[in-house]
Amino acid sequence: MIETIFITGANRGIGLALTKLALSQKLKVEASYRNLDNSIELKKLSDEYPNLNIIEMDVRSSKSILKASRKLKNPIDILVCNAGINNGKGDIFSKEHNEKNILDVMMVNVAGPFLTIRNLYDNLNQTDGSKVAIISSLMGSQTHISSNAAIYRASKAAANNLMRTISNQFFNENIVVSSYHPGWVRTDMGGKLADISPEESAKGLLHHFCNLKKDDTGKFFNYDGSILPL
Ligand SMILES: NC(=O)c1ccc[n+]([C@@H]2O[C@H](COP(=O)([O-])OP(=O)(O)OC[C@H]3O[C@@H](n4cnc5c(N)ncnc54)[C@H](OP(=O)(O)O)[C@@H]3O)[C@@H](O)[C@H]2O)c1
Repeated sequence: MIETIFITGANRGIGLALTKLALSQKLKVEASYRNLDNSIELKKLSDEYPNLNIIEMDVRSSKSILKASRKLKNPIDILVCNAGINNGKGDIFSKEHNEKNILDVMMVNVAGPFLTIRNLYDNLNQTDGSKVAIISSLMGSQTHISSNAAIYRASKAAANNLMRTISNQFFNENIVVSSYHPGWVRTDMGGKLADISPEESAKGLLHHFCNLKKDDTGKFFNYDGSILPL
């Protein structure tokens, strides 16, 4: 039975919508944020819901994740590696593709899920089984035709590759590992013109997470549950 979900980057966008939906479904929610000043709505929710535990955590830092792991109240049934950034739009000549931005996006989008999964491994519910969901992007698919955001695309391709590697490592354990395109979503990252609301994305994602089976490990899914090409 799914009881506890851990969501990174839960203070805004898709992470916040997932948090609200999980709370409405009476799940126990462990929700991470980076900066409390930037997490007013999440803080308010935690005052309202006893089943919401909010935890400071930066996905770029093992120290921060291990500190967070000690504050967890329950074993994790679903771990959602949602935190992500896109700091480089435009083609390869765009000034946004500078060394600092490249390092930052790789640290958050690639090292982030890697360090999160490694450092929260002991918190996963292996007795009843657990599911690890990496929020990637269709932009990381090799089949996606675009010349925009080359480094973000590479980071999400790497996140999908990480998902494959970790799913292989955990294949004989009671842990399903998969990755997701959340849709093009109206968040700070997706912008106002995007296709779907954060609520719509969260609804599809959470429904799929709760119904993941062993056979789904190593696969890349759309938020509606359909399979996507890696
Ligand atoms: N929106 C879309 O259309 C779309 C499409 C495809 C994939 N995605 C992916 O979906 C995920 C969520 O995106 P979103 O649209 O909800 O983005 P968003 O609104 O920009 O929110 C990003 C979240 O990630 C957190 N975050 C960033 N760096 C972090 C770090 N170092 N440690 C911990 N948390 C960190 C942010 O926290 P702060 O508030 O502290 O910055 C925020 O909570 C991302 O992985 C993104 O790449 C989004």
